[in-house]
Amino acid sequence: MPSPLAEKIPESKIRIVQHDGPPSSSVLEAIDQLLLILPAKPAQKTWSVVPHGSKVKALLKRRSSGSVPGISTRLSNHRQTALHVGLLDSKIDAFEQLSFGRKMLAAALAENAGCVGIWVHGFDTGQQRVITERLCAAALAAGFALPRFKCANRQSGINSLRVVGLDERIDLRRTVAEAGGNNLARWLTAMPPNKLDARGYVKLLQELARKHRWEFRKYGITELKKLGAGAFLAVAQGNADESAAMVRLRYRPRRNVANPALSLVGKGIIFDTGGINLKPFQSMLEMHIDMGGSAVAVGTLQAISELALPVPVDCWLAITENRTGPTAYKPQDLITSASGKTIQTIHTDAEGRMALADTLTFACRDKPGFLIDYATLTGACINAVTPRYSGAFTNRQKLHPVLKKTGVECGERVWPFPMGKEFLEELKSDSADLKQCAPNAGGDHILAATFLNEFVDKTIPWVHIDLSACTRKGGLAHIPTDITGFGVRYTMSLLLDRKVLDGAEWE
Ligand code: BES
Ligand code: MN
Ligand code: ZN
Repeated sequence: MPSPLAEKIPESKIRIVQHDGPPSSSVLEAIDQLLLILPAKPAQKTWSVVPHGSKVKALLKRRSSGSVPGISTRLSNHRQTALHVGLLDSKIDAFEQLSFGRKMLAAALAENAGCVGIWVHGFDTGQQRVITERLCAAALAAGFALPRFKCANRQSGINSLRVVGLDERIDLRRTVAEAGGNNLARWLTAMPPNKLDARGYVKLLQELARKHRWEFRKYGITELKKLGAGAFLAVAQGNADESAAMVRLRYRPRRNVANPALSLVGKGIIFDTGGINLKPFQSMLEMHIDMGGSAVAVGTLQAISELALPVPVDCWLAITENRTGPTAYKPQDLITSASGKTIQTIHTDAEGRMALADTLTFACRDKPGFLIDYATLTGACINAVTPRYSGAFTNRQKLHPVLKKTGVECGERVWPFPMGKEFLEELKSDSADLKQCAPNAGGDHILAATFLNEFVDKTIPWVHIDLSACTRKGGLAHIPTDITGFGVRYTMSLLLDRKVLDGAEWE
C-alpha cells in the first residue's frame, strides 16, 4: 500500500562522502561550495596547504572582525568552487559552534549550493571530529526543505556533502539520525493546520509506524470516554468532529519486552485558538506550532529507532485542536480526569496541561523507567528564558545540574525551574481537587509543571520540557528556520552522553 501522506515528508537526499587528507584537485572539482574552518589564529604552515593560501591569508587580514564566514572567494578551478573561510575559536561552547555552523551554511546557500565541502583544518583530531559533526548537523538542517505550497519550483539546496581533510574517518550515524529526527519534527510542526489536521496526523503516524516497525495504537473518542479521560476530552470537545485522539507508538528493539525503559509524551494541539477564552490575532497567528511537542517526541523516537538503540520506548501523543463553538469546554466546567482527580476549569487557553494530564496518567500506567514530556505549554516560559532556551522541570532534584549540563554540551540549552508542593498552594480549589491554572499568580510555567506533576506517578523519574525554544525568528544554534525542532538533539544527548537511563536513582 502506498502511503500518500508519509511520502510527502522529504527523505533527506543528502549523500555524505568522507575523504582523508587535504582535498586533491579532482575532489575540489566536485565541490560547488567549500567551507574551510580554521582556528582563530591559523599556524603559518596552513597557508601552504590551503588552496590560494597566500591570497586567503591576505584577505583574512582585511576581514571585519567577528564576521562569519571571515571571507568568501573563489578557486580558479574549472568548477569555480566558492571558498568560504571561517575562523573558529575551538574554546567556544557547543551552542556558539553550532551557530557558527548555521552562518557558514547560510553563506554556502546564498547561491545554488549543490555539492558542499566541509574542511576542518588545523585542529587536533578530537576537535576536528566534534567541529565536523557540528558543521554536518548544520548542513543537514540547512539542506532540508520545510513544506512549501508555491506554484514555482523549489530552490535547489544541497545534494551532497563532502567531508575532506580528515585525520581519520568519523562515524556520522548519530549526527544523521539526530538530524533526521529534527527534520521530521520541524516538518510536522511547520505543516499548516488544515494540511495536517488531527485525522491526517493520526494517519501519518500510522504510516510512520509501519515504515519503522513501531506498534501503533489509536485511542479514539469512544475509547477515551470509556477510560474516563475527561481532561483530554474537555479540550477535544471543541474539535469539529471525532478526529481527536491519543496515539501510542511503541519501539521495541527486541520482542516481548513489556515495560518501556523510556516514555516520551508530546502535546499535539493541531491549532490553539485559545478556545472560549479566544486568543487575540498576534498570539493566535503562530498557534499551528502547538503540536511541536508531539513532533519532537516522534522525531526523537525516530532517531532512537534508526540508531537501533537497545531501549524499549513508548511514545504518547495527545492530538486535538483547541477551538471555540457550542460544544467547547468553558471556564468553570468541572472536569474529572482519568486519574480520578477533579479539575476546576479556569481558562480554556490552558488546554495543554488538560490534554497532557490524562496522557501522562496513561503513560505512567506502563511503569516506564524514565518519563519525558515536551510541550509548547506556556507563554510565561518564553517570557522567563526567551526563545533561546527551553524550560526544564523534574520531580527529581538531582537531575537539575544534569539537565543543564546536557544542554550546554549539546547546544540545545534548557534552564531548570522549581515546581511542586510549595506552588500547589496556588492551584487549590474550593470545589475540585485542583484548579487548572492561576493566571494572576505569576510564574505560569511553574504552575503548569506543578499541575502536570499531580498526574505523574511519583516513583517514575520525570522531566518536563516547556518548549519555549520551539520557534525563534532567524533560527537557533545550527537550525536556520524559525521552527527549530528543539528537543530531539537534547534528548539524544541525555540518553547517549549523560546516560540518564542507566540505573541511577536520581533520588
Ligand atoms: N500554546 C500556548 C502557549 C504558547 C504561547 C506557546 C506562545 C508558544 C507560544 C498555551 O496553550 C497557552 O495558551 N497558554 C496560556 C496559559 C494561560 C491562559 C494560563 C498562556 O501562556 O497565555
Ligand atoms: Mn492555549
Ligand atoms: Zn496551547
